[in-house]
Amino acid sequence: MSKNHLKVILFIYSIVIMARWLIIGISGVTCSGKTTLAKKLHESLSNSSYINQDCYYLPPDDSRHTHIAELNHHNWDIITSIDMEKMYLDVLKILDSSNETENEFSKEESSIIHILIIDGILIFNCKQIADMCHLKYFLTLTKQQTWERRQLRSYDPPDVPCYFDKIVWPEYLKYKEKIDKNQKMNETIIFIDGGSSMVDVFQKVFNDVSIKLQNLELSLNS
Ligand SMILES: Nc1ncnc2c1ncn2[C@@H]1O[C@H](COP(=O)(O)OP(=O)(O)OP(=O)(O)O)[C@@H](O)[C@H]1O
Ligand SMILES: [Mg+2]
Repeated sequence: MSKNHLKVILFIYSIVIMARWLIIGISGVTCSGKTTLAKKLHESLSNSSYINQDCYYLPPDDSRHTHIAELNHHNWDIITSIDMEKMYLDVLKILDSSNETENEFSKEESSIIHILIIDGILIFNCKQIADMCHLKYFLTLTKQQTWERRQLRSYDPPDVPCYFDKIVWPEYLKYKEKIDKNQKMNETIIFIDGGSSMVDVFQKVFNDVSIKLQNLELSLNS
């Protein structure tokens, strides 16, 4: 079987098993609060699973990395620095796990909607993942706000001097521009100012999720 055939089969399979899932994608600029929001949602929503794109970075010695000679540092802010095939397969595994749970429980249990929260700086660059999200959020910050928050963080590997100005911010602008130009995608994304208070950001998303859950449960039981 060719790689393309396998991709089509996996895609069809994901649609079938997705029926009982509410999938939430959270993306946006670095340090905008994606993980803070995603983890708070995961804690607050019973029956939820969480996956973070950060766990899929290629190891530093992988030849697929783009090395920036000028900075003597890899470009960690592009989709090719991440093993998206592995991440997508893990998403499918999580979705599939609801089948196992349902086999073990009663009929009432099987009507529960499961929630998957997908967190990542570039997740909407992966069409299969973007297409499966029922709710898509994109957190924004100004360059100054992003820089101020980034300086307080420690990354592995650590940022080298000028990495933010030469790579992080320009790559973010490219990602945002790609989304803005894709009208079909853009219309499905809810943009949130990541400079708002954590409580406000969480409350807005939690309300959306609650409404979406009710609607999905209604349609599943009708
Ligand atoms: N709404 C907010 N207001 C102020 N600070 C915030 C807010 N949300 C998150 N933070 C802080 O900003 C920093 C980055 O948050 P977080 O790790 O959630 O961002 P991220 O978007 O996941 O970043 P990364 O791109 O590195 O994964 C943390 O110190 C967090 O406490
Ligand atoms: Mg994060």
